[in-house]
Parts: sequence; structure tokens; C-alpha cells
Amino acid sequence: MPQKSPVENKESIYILGIESSCDDTAAAVLKDGKIISNIVANQKIHEEYGGVVPELASRAHQQNIVPVVDMALKKAGISPEKLSGIAFTEGPGLLGSLLVGVSFAKSLSMAWNIPLLPVHHMKAHILAHFIEEDSMKLPEFPFLALTISGGHTQIVRVNDYFDMEVLGETLDDAVGEAFDKSAKIMGLPYPGGPLIDKYAQKGDPKRFPFPKPKVAGMNFSFSGLKTSILYFLQKKVKENPDFIKENIEDLSASIQYTIINILMDKLKLAVKETGINRIAIGGGVSANSGIRNALLEQQEKGNWEVYIPKFEFTTDNAAMIAIVGYHKYLQGQTGRLDLVPKARMKF
Ligand code: KG4
Ligand code: ZN
Repeated sequence: MPQKSPVENKESIYILGIESSCDDTAAAVLKDGKIISNIVANQKIHEEYGGVVPELASRAHQQNIVPVVDMALKKAGISPEKLSGIAFTEGPGLLGSLLVGVSFAKSLSMAWNIPLLPVHHMKAHILAHFIEEDSMKLPEFPFLALTISGGHTQIVRVNDYFDMEVLGETLDDAVGEAFDKSAKIMGLPYPGGPLIDKYAQKGDPKRFPFPKPKVAGMNFSFSGLKTSILYFLQKKVKENPDFIKENIEDLSASIQYTIINILMDKLKLAVKETGINRIAIGGGVSANSGIRNALLEQQEKGNWEVYIPKFEFTTDNAAMIAIVGYHKYLQGQTGRLDLVPKARMKF
């Protein structure tokens, strides 16, 4: 149970958030739901391997976690006694990476006698929309969340902070993987998503039509797209070894166009089936200019109300972990010291 009840005592609530589920070590401090510090240490080491190497990720988390948490507290200008709770990512994610954050949060909880607030990483991507900032409009419940990252692709009906229902998800690759794997086939470095986005700005999206998968309901599939890009390019490169280099902009634009169409088709179906037209996006891929433009176009037409978070809250960060921790704290949902990290975690 929380040591200090916010009702009995009207002091501000400070929550420390820790995120270590993949390849970013992050810590943040929120005061009454508002950010007062937000630190992320990216791991450059994975670039040369073309993807995240789990062993290297957990080692880098071990090196980063103390300075990152220390910097978050220093930037917030608070001492540990002020903290009401420690929020941390319980899962899903890479087990070795999660273990570093979970163990560290538990140690701090014991040392400082502060409650633990375990957080579901994907729910945090959704609730990142509630990080309070001046002039930011918060989505009203219920809304639809499209969570698109390197590890997940989901459409979720969000009824309340802790009442969510997955309407559809990927049956194979996540959308970020579809971007990164397509980029890898074209010889681009990891993570290729932002590069495809950059080249796509100057390309013709209709030059190379790639097939869209036929998947029932609101579920997604991206592995077929990757295979069709691979076969297409193998054939073209045989005819002309410089094909990719000469067409990188049109190829990127066409790949991005196909991926965005797949996402938008399913979102339109979700809006039709639920009657909810408030759409909030989250996850690293929501930085993509194609998806942003497609959503904003719907908003301009007066069809949807669209919520796109600031870039720093779309990729992995600890402020989103802390905001979930803050709402859990308000509801007295604290965690036990014997909990373990979960690579897979139910929604
Ligand atoms: O949420 P995130 O930072 O990490 C997790 O996977 O949890 O998402 C990273 C993913 C990578 O696949 C990266 O290529 C993709 O987001 N990404 C993008 C863009 N920026 C990041 N994909 C397409 N366009 C972008 N602008
Ligand atoms: Zn994430």
C-alpha cells in the first residue's frame, strides 16, 4: 500500500519512472502528472548488427541505469524522500533488458521504502497521451489507440485508464519490423524506418505497387509484404545491379504507401465497427510522416479527431511509464517485491 495517501495529505505526488524493455534506458520524474525531467539514453551499439542484440542491450542497460536515474532525479531537483512511487516496465519486452530495470526499481523501493508501480509497456504507449503539458488536448474516453512500434501493432479500444480491449493485432511482424526489414533488404542501416520515411518524401508512392495482405477483421500481417519486396528486388537487381540505388526514393515511397494503407484500412474498419472516431497513435512508428499525414487528412475532412503525441513521447521513454504509475498510485494499485519481469504479458 502507498505510504502516503494523496487524499489525506495534499502534498504533490512525485513519481519516478524507469523504462528498460528494449534498447533505450530511460528515467523520468513527474510531479502531479506533469514532466519535470525526462532522460533517455539510446544504445548506438545495435546499429552495426542491423537489429537489437538482446545480450548487448541488457549489458548497456546495466551501464546506463545508474547515471540515467541519477540524472533524472538531479534534473527534477528532488531528493528520493519526495518520491511517492517508483513506476517501471514489468513487460512485455526483452527479458534480459527488463530484468535490469525491474531489479533496479525493486532495490530503490527497498532502500527508500517507496511503493512499486509495475507498468505494461504497451499500455504506457497508449496512456502517454495523458502526460499533462500546457495547451495539450487530452483524448476523451472511449477512444481508439493505434500502437505501432518495432515490437507491436495493435488497435485498442480504450474505455478508461485501466480498461482496454485489443480489437486487432499483428499475426506476424510488427509494423516497425516491416519498415526495418524492408530497409535492410535495400541495404539501409538499422533502424531503417526513419530512413524510408526520409527517402519517401521525394518519391512516387504509386511507382511500385506491392500487394496488401488479406487478413480477417482488425488483425494485421506484414510478413508477406517483406517477402514480396525481397523477391521483387532480387529480380530487379539481377537485371540492373544499381536498381535499388537508382530508385531508392520511389521504392521507399511505395513501401511506405503500402504499409500506411494497410494501417488506415484497419483503422477505418475499427471506426466503423465501434462508432468511435477519436484516434490516438503511439509507438515509434507514429513518428512516420506518412501515417501522420493520412490521419490529419481524416481530421481535416471532419471524419476523425486525431491525437498525435510529441515525438519524445512516441518512442520509448520513461515519462509514459511514470504517467501510468501516477494513475496506478492514485488508485492504490501497487506491486509486490516478488514480482518478476515478463517477456510476454497479457493486455
Ligand atoms: O516504440 P519504439 O521506439 O521501440 C519499440 O519498438 O518499442 O519503435 C521503434 C520503431 C523502429 O522499428 C523504427 O524503425 C520505427 O519505430 N520508426 C519509424 C520512424 N521512426 C521510428 N518507422 C517509420 N517512420 C519513422 N519516421
Ligand atoms: Zn515501445
